[in-house]
Amino acid sequence: MNFPVTRLRRLRRTEAMRSLVRETHLRPSCLIYPLFICPGEGVRKEISSMPGVFNLSLDEAMKEAETAASLGLGGLLLFGLPAEKDEMGTGAWAADGVVQTALQAFKQNRKLDSLIQIADVCLCEYTSHGHCGLVARDPYARDGEHFQVENDSSVALLAKAAASLAAAGADIVAPSDMMDGRVAAMRDALDAIGHQQTPIMSYASKFASAFYGPFREAADSAPQFGDRRGYQMDGANLREAMREIDQDIAEGADMILMKPAMPYLDVIRAARERCELPLGAYQVSGEYAMLHAAFQRGWLEQDRAILESLLSIRRAGADFIVTYFAKDAARLLG
Ligand code: PBG
Repeated sequence: MNFPVTRLRRLRRTEAMRSLVRETHLRPSCLIYPLFICPGEGVRKEISSMPGVFNLSLDEAMKEAETAASLGLGGLLLFGLPAEKDEMGTGAWAADGVVQTALQAFKQNRKLDSLIQIADVCLCEYTSHGHCGLVARDPYARDGEHFQVENDSSVALLAKAAASLAAAGADIVAPSDMMDGRVAAMRDALDAIGHQQTPIMSYASKFASAFYGPFREAADSAPQFGDRRGYQMDGANLREAMREIDQDIAEGADMILMKPAMPYLDVIRAARERCELPLGAYQVSGEYAMLHAAFQRGWLEQDRAILESLLSIRRAGADFIVTYFAKDAARLLG
């Protein structure tokens, strides 16, 4: 380049000029807001490590959903806290389960028509042991790993859960369990009940991450023993993330979700360059919590940091973002 003829600052001089040449944009419609729905009435219990995020009973969740719609958000991602948990996670496919009930109620409310209702599909919120599938003794185990989450039997239950959520009105089902073969099994289960039109958004590359810590309080889903490294991915592996994506596409995934977001922006970029499917990223609970911890201390400017964090995820290649900041960001963008 030939300074002084070339002066890059010319295009930065005014907001109008910056706006004209801006490469990446955030819109409320590309943001998805997670909700944690619990039994009861009038319940609005704040998650201690996630200021502004609550366990909500259905009546309160309805208000929250209406706010999300009025802000122009793209959709909701629904998680459920069942009244009771068991070894198999029966609540995940109960026709009157907490998320199924919420979906049915949301579908009746015309004010929510603009919101895509996405149901997270996993067992960890519903199992007494907090794992994402069925747990069995591992006959080949070495010290410390006496139990493993069984893949194929878990997949059968997850497919049942996906079908039940679609039947209750989910616009999209989003498997977050990381079992092998679950996308194909869910496609079969959805088609078998006449839901050929329900898309599957697979959490294709989901890393075993410390950044899920606050979520496990929100969803009451911390594993009671062991951890999730036997099924979620090793944070060191980018090539393996690409294999996960290829596999989910081959099994029939309609869209792909990457998770976490900010510590894995390189993986999002690589995914974007590899596949043509709509691609989302999940800015997870720990990413939200750490930013809030800094906001509370006055160490970061809240509004700017929220938008900059989301812009970085869009710039890395995500079409849409699941974020606990969705409402805040929509207000700032509005
Ligand atoms: C369930 C699930 C988790 C998250 C989304 N779905 C937790 C986990 O895998 O432990 C994490 C989301 C977040 O941290 O915000 N399998």
